[in-house]
Amino acid sequence: MKILVTGGTGYIGSHTAVELQQKGYEVIIVDNLSNSSIEVLDNITRITGTRPLFEQFDLTEPERTAEFFQTHSDIEAIIHFAAFKAVGESVEKPLMYYRNNLDSLMNILQGMIDNGIRNIVFSSSCTVYGQPDTLPVREDSPIKKAWSPYGNTKQMSEEIITFTSDVNDIYSILLRYFNPIGAHESALIGELPIGIPNCLMPYITQTAIGIREYLRVWGDDYPTPDGTAIRDYIHVVDLAKAHVIAIERMIEKKGKEKVEVFNLGAGNGFSVMEVIKSFERSTGVKLDYRIMDRRPGDVVEVWSDTEYANKELGWKAEKTLDEMTLSAWRWEESLAKHIFKGS
Ligand code: NAD
Ligand code: WQD
Repeated sequence: MKILVTGGTGYIGSHTAVELQQKGYEVIIVDNLSNSSIEVLDNITRITGTRPLFEQFDLTEPERTAEFFQTHSDIEAIIHFAAFKAVGESVEKPLMYYRNNLDSLMNILQGMIDNGIRNIVFSSSCTVYGQPDTLPVREDSPIKKAWSPYGNTKQMSEEIITFTSDVNDIYSILLRYFNPIGAHESALIGELPIGIPNCLMPYITQTAIGIREYLRVWGDDYPTPDGTAIRDYIHVVDLAKAHVIAIERMIEKKGKEKVEVFNLGAGNGFSVMEVIKSFERSTGVKLDYRIMDRRPGDVVEVWSDTEYANKELGWKAEKTLDEMTLSAWRWEESLAKHIFKGS
């Protein structure tokens, strides 16, 4: 059964391609390599023994995307990861984000309608909730006004999919990820931040390996037990497995509604200081960090209510925070070896 994974050479897409192949699905990846490397295909092949089909093009190109779908109308379901995701950059370049994230989605939906492809899983984000009024966050918690164009593209994408599903034979699962971190146990695939990382985990591992001088902890005066902000970190492999379950649910027509929404988090909140301590504990590496002012736009605390995903998908995040931080470190070490070998 053929599954299209857009953005499949990226961070979450590559881990999902591995899980799909290990369950016997035929994976076809479309990626323009704007934020990933072609070598990821070799590494997916090393892990699974199977090379995914791959086409390199930009999904914002309507003719190219239409041509792709005509050639591959036997696709059973799509997992749409391809998007730009840097919150800060989206504030600087809003149109670039709206064009990339919305045009690509609309071209894909058009391709589905024209070729009778019924199923799509969409990568959404907990960012759609902003700072929730009550915690943990349930799927029916209110969607707050987006503070970044990136977050707004996720809200708009969810609406575009919903209205398109309403009047077409299209079924969708919107997955709202919390904070994915960590890497595959093989250390062959992981997150490849381009430039200076914005996110906590790659900044920690790059500091520990000596690429960055010290970690800046954005604020220790939040109303939380240790004063640092709290997030729901989820291991990327747990996240990837949830996508396979979502695909199975669609193919087996087990969905309760045409559009379903699930939170994908571990259901635990950890503070920045707890992540630092976990990293030091799991790796034995000491981290240099300094406390700075709060980062503008950061929410104080957010974590997910996982009950609905647990019950309906029969899925639960399994890996601990120490497993997440250790696997992120193994990946950073593997990247360093790769670079030092000059390959
Ligand atoms: P990533 O940047 O590693 O992967 C995205 C991939 O999409 C990249 O390989 C990139 O080259 C490709 N791409 C982007 N625009 C494209 C286009 N127009 N045509 C073809 N390919 C294109 O990102 P990721 O962390 O794997 O995130 C995957 C998805 O999950 C994104 O939609 C992101 O918004 C969403 N998400 C990510 C996080 C996170 O923290 N990583 C959290 C919530 C939601
Ligand atoms: C986590 C915590 C920082 C870096 C972002 C996007 C969100 C979603 C997930 C895609 C915060 C602190 C960070 C650093 C730090 N992505 N931090 N020093 O902000 O929760 O969410 O990724 O949808 O949309 O906004 O993740 O990893 O940037 O930050 O102290 O160098 O770590 O202040 O409290 P965030 P993050």
